[in-house]
Amino acid sequence: MEEKERNHKLTSASGIPYAEHENSKTVGLRGPILLEDFILHEKLAHFNRERVPERVVHAKGSGAFGKFTVTHDITKYTRAKVFSQIGKETPLFLRFSTVGGENGSADTERDPRGFAIKFYTEDGNWDLVGNNTPVFFIKDPKKFPDFIHTQKRDPRTHTKSATMMWDFWSLNPESLHQVMILMSDRGTPYGYRHMHGFGSHTFSFINAENERFFVKFHFKTVQGIKNFTNSEAAAMKGVDPDFAQRDLVEAIDRGDYPQWALKIQIMTEAEAKTYKWNPFDLTKVWSQKDFPLIDVGILELNRIPNNYFADVEQSAFAPAHVVDGIGYSPDRMLQGRLLSYPDAHRYRIGANFEQLPVNRCPFAVNNYQRDGAMRYDSNGGAAPNYFPNSFDGIYADEKYKEPAQELDSSIAGWFDRNGEGENDHYTQPGDLFRLMTDDEKKATINNIVGAMSGISGEKRTLIINRQLCHFFRADISLGIAIAKGLGVDIESQAMQHAITGN
Ligand code: HEM
Repeated sequence: MEEKERNHKLTSASGIPYAEHENSKTVGLRGPILLEDFILHEKLAHFNRERVPERVVHAKGSGAFGKFTVTHDITKYTRAKVFSQIGKETPLFLRFSTVGGENGSADTERDPRGFAIKFYTEDGNWDLVGNNTPVFFIKDPKKFPDFIHTQKRDPRTHTKSATMMWDFWSLNPESLHQVMILMSDRGTPYGYRHMHGFGSHTFSFINAENERFFVKFHFKTVQGIKNFTNSEAAAMKGVDPDFAQRDLVEAIDRGDYPQWALKIQIMTEAEAKTYKWNPFDLTKVWSQKDFPLIDVGILELNRIPNNYFADVEQSAFAPAHVVDGIGYSPDRMLQGRLLSYPDAHRYRIGANFEQLPVNRCPFAVNNYQRDGAMRYDSNGGAAPNYFPNSFDGIYADEKYKEPAQELDSSIAGWFDRNGEGENDHYTQPGDLFRLMTDDEKKATINNIVGAMSGISGEKRTLIINRQLCHFFRADISLGIAIAKGLGVDIESQAMQHAITGN
């Protein structure tokens, strides 16, 4: 058979050419369908299995391929090959997302945005799985499922619930910093191209001399910050729920490649011991006055995947996947995420998710993992499946060993995350508010008042007062403006009780 002829023939999944794809095989013109039309069964059965479970968070997303180019030398901080010389290019895949909504939810929801990057480096794939915010709502991973439940649907009404959200935030004052960002117009970015990205956590850098530094990653949008107002975002949900996806695809397809400038903050181990803020607390930022931004390079997106499911839905990112020259830190949220993500991937797309093209390391992968569902590569062929062995010459390279890390304490226990020295939840969010322009302040206050107005039920007053108290502590004028917007009498006994605790 001619190759061209074979390639264009309609076939079953097993490659059997067949002639009829529009009518089922029936008994007579008006009779029932024959069981032997296995193509019909194959088609319906495959269709029934088209979905993989959606991500438990960050279900709605958009992705693109691109590259990272080094523009500045940071080799004194890290030996990571991705940063090894000016001009070096590393291919990458980036997936943006909203957090709380389902796969079909609207792109312009008020929500943080995911900013997950997979750098395909010679030393393996480096995943930096961050958000468009430098901080997060919680500082202990044990709280993550509770927090996310409040962002999803109420178990009875199956609708989003402002009551759940504000109940949780008001009971966890460390959330205030992220709540302030979320409630500003940065909570409704104009698509994905006009927002910054952050690694958010503190990571380690390790240089050629085996010295450790702590590092924060910032990706500054070259397109400039642009946000929707609350009402524009709400209207866009109806006009085009896929606004951000469409915006990204159209920009890249017309050659208008979005870029982000990677900058880092560096803290030495000695500085980390004495810094006024816990440098490993994800609800805090490192002041850029204390730790100025250092230029590193440019990230560019330039290709939309040809198939959304293959590359975007099946992409899998894991904060645990760092490469030589980059390491973890004691940030508890990062620690919690190290095991959680690959566990999610195995559930969502299977034990061999690393072999899917978008996730696969394009360089060497040598290990003794074998078999499992959907193992479609050669599965190691005839090579040994155990280590050590006398045959394949594969060895563990000592030069990839990280330097040992000294920790502050040798006492194990349950420490209060918000205990003495860890309980200033107010200075940084207050500073953020005071840095805003008058228009930004006004929008933030309106957005908060609008969101809190949705709190309902018998605990409404309690929740409002408890949260107002946090806003007051961050900034008196913020507290007063929100109270006024909500029609709360701040002289009332309940409010005084909430503010003073007496
Ligand atoms: C302990 C806290 C956290 C836990 C347990 C957690 C867990 C998860 C899980 C299970 C997924 C779905 C993964 C998948 O099915 O592929 C996910 C996705 C994601 N998370 Fe987290 N998360 C946490 C905190 C964070 C933080 C602090 C950030 C950002 C700074 C973040 C950013 C993301 C992003 C961007 C995605 C989507 C990745 C993608 O595009 O596939 N998460 N998270």
